[in-house]
Amino acid sequence: MTRPTRRAPDGLGSASPSVRASRDRNSDAGRVETGTRCGVAPSVGRVCRTRRGRGRTLADLLHQGIARLAKAGIPNFQQEAIWLIEFALDTTHLAIRLEGQHEVTAAELRRAATLFARRATREPLQYILGTQEFCGLDFRVEPGVLIPRPDTELLVEALLSHASSALPPAMIADIGTGSGCVAVTLSRALPSTMTYATDVSPAALELARENAARHGVGDRIVFRAGDLFEPLRGLGCEGKLAAIVANPPYIPSGELALLQPEVSRFEPWLALDGGPDGLTVHRRLLHDAAEFLAPGGLLAIEMGQGQAEPLRQIAFGSGAYDLLHARRDAAGIERVICFRRNA
Ligand SMILES: C[S@@+](CC[C@H](N)C(=O)[O-])C[C@H]1O[C@@H](n2cnc3c(N)ncnc32)[C@H](O)[C@@H]1O
Repeated sequence: MTRPTRRAPDGLGSASPSVRASRDRNSDAGRVETGTRCGVAPSVGRVCRTRRGRGRTLADLLHQGIARLAKAGIPNFQQEAIWLIEFALDTTHLAIRLEGQHEVTAAELRRAATLFARRATREPLQYILGTQEFCGLDFRVEPGVLIPRPDTELLVEALLSHASSALPPAMIADIGTGSGCVAVTLSRALPSTMTYATDVSPAALELARENAARHGVGDRIVFRAGDLFEPLRGLGCEGKLAAIVANPPYIPSGELALLQPEVSRFEPWLALDGGPDGLTVHRRLLHDAAEFLAPGGLLAIEMGQGQAEPLRQIAFGSGAYDLLHARRDAAGIERVICFRRNA
């Protein structure tokens, strides 16, 4: 079941990540008690209702959720309380609004309270609901793996606009694939392409494989664990990749603790920490990518605010690249930089 797009706590860049959560019907949190115990056939939602009186109602539950999230400082507390109840009770926004006097079961109360409590610790909504939309596709997300951000869709755009003006890429790589959002999206958009995706995090790779299978491209993405390009050695990719995309960690180490709690306390620092100036991984990536790109191949890298100029200097200093362009995010910040491997 698909929910409407929703706003979630701020991300790494200036734009907040949006969430369009799908329900995981297999999770305990999303399971519903239905059947003959329900005394009243639901007209809008599927909440189990007994109408025995004196119990807690949907309206009570909503009030409780709103109060809990507001106290925890969640900016969008009213909307998020509704989303969490929808998820916990496998019901709908309409049912919550229109059938507020219906009683909820003790089990439903417990499930909703558990989710309110998790969100009140500032755990990202996406980790609780288990999904995040990226380029129109739903991706599974889980603690330990970075939640895909809207800004990263620029990486996909960069490669697809390059592919439309150059030969369709036969082999490409996504370095630091995380949830696999970029590799999966590109594989679906470029059906004749083989994608190599690496990550140092085994948890990320496992999730990326799951997302690839879920979107039907598991047989066209080669996932490998290890540092940057190391896992690709011996696979015959050197000098042959038509394009490389990467969203490496780029937050300066000293700024990690200053990020909003959803990010600093819950997302993996391995995916965020870019070293003293935020560019430690980018430097190595620019160096190693030159060996793997085919002449004329595209290198598209996501970066943080103010990092475009240092990256231009590093790239030109290497003598391996020409600058193509930088793409700006919704806030006007240069977010993705594109180089071409010179011949
Ligand atoms: C900012 S996240 C990007 C994840 C995903 N590509 C996305 O855009 O949502 C960076 C990813 O790079 C991985 N990573 C960090 N250092 C790495 C390295 N040296 N080699 C390979 N992957 C690395 C992290 O585990 C993380 O999954």
